[in-house]
Amino acid sequence: MKALILAGGSGTRLRPITHTRAKQLVPVANTPILFYGIEAMVAAGVTEIGVIVGDTRDEVMAAVGDGSRFGAQITYIPQDQPLGLAHCVVIAREFLGDHEFVMYLGDNLLEQDLAAFVSAFQAARNSDQPPSAQILLKKVPDPHRFGIATLDEQGNVVALVEKPADPPSDLALVGVYLFDHSIHEAVAAISPSDRGELEITDAIQWLIDQGLRVRCELLSGWWIDTGKLTPLLEANRLLLEKMEPSISGDVDEASVIDGRVRIAAGAVVRNSTIRGPVAIGERTRIIDSFIGPYSAIGADCEVIQSEVEHSVIMESSRIIDIPRLEDSLIGSHAEVTRTEQRPRALRLMVGDHCQIDVE
Ligand code: G1P
Repeated sequence: MKALILAGGSGTRLRPITHTRAKQLVPVANTPILFYGIEAMVAAGVTEIGVIVGDTRDEVMAAVGDGSRFGAQITYIPQDQPLGLAHCVVIAREFLGDHEFVMYLGDNLLEQDLAAFVSAFQAARNSDQPPSAQILLKKVPDPHRFGIATLDEQGNVVALVEKPADPPSDLALVGVYLFDHSIHEAVAAISPSDRGELEITDAIQWLIDQGLRVRCELLSGWWIDTGKLTPLLEANRLLLEKMEPSISGDVDEASVIDGRVRIAAGAVVRNSTIRGPVAIGERTRIIDSFIGPYSAIGADCEVIQSEVEHSVIMESSRIIDIPRLEDSLIGSHAEVTRTEQRPRALRLMVGDHCQIDVE
């Protein structure tokens, strides 16, 4: 079994952050989103991984490397234009050969581990009616935003449609798919959709139309497509809740650490309260401040005389004299400061290298 992880795409809904950074490398709980997908593959025993990269390929390749730090071998497959998920399968043909593979959208995060999903497919492949594909479904409140499946009374997948205006069900396709070699014929047979992309949903529908079996499973646990601010902060919250607490940094006696908190080596906390779940990165300095639940502050940051809660702050940024910063996403090397006293809460999405002075 091989894996294909999709890490192209431009991340337009997370601008300005994604002007300067791949959306799959935005950190949640101080780890880039993409790393969780790679780790999930390796944990499921899949170590030969193809990664589709687009405009941000240099950055993705620099962050992930050859995969050895994850125990994986990574092959990069460049996609010159975002022509759809099925197009990724087309350009990965040589890497995939005739192997079975798991395809994973690099901006999706799942609570459930992949091992059970992968082994269920392998077991079904050895049955009398081996499936050609397996999809993962989750009930959603907003089905017009996703690929949607219709099941028959026995629970077989009978139809799939991409982002329907009038959804036939509320069962969305989660961004994890398993395929055998027949998907290659399917992606060659379909035409681009109205949005100009080769849709994987149409390719799977093609398999069904050929009489091939498509197995499905219902996802237990949460699933987040992280491409926007609110789900990204939600993913950060959910992962911080599961994080192992540990205090490696230097915390003085005037500070209070409460709940699930991880403070990395070299971090310094002085005269501050940190109420978990919170992650503080390496060499970060928290001085005379309050860091409230669901905050992830990256490495080499400074938070001085400020209150931060339910926010992601990326590496090397400074938050100085801010009475309250909440529900915010702050890029790297950014600076948020204040010259006049005005006690009110700020909710910000700040790009890398920006400087915000609140007056
Ligand atoms: C893609 C798929 C869609 C699926 C979704 C899951 O949508 O086309 O079927 O439900 O991922 O995240 P996109 O992210 O391209 O809008």
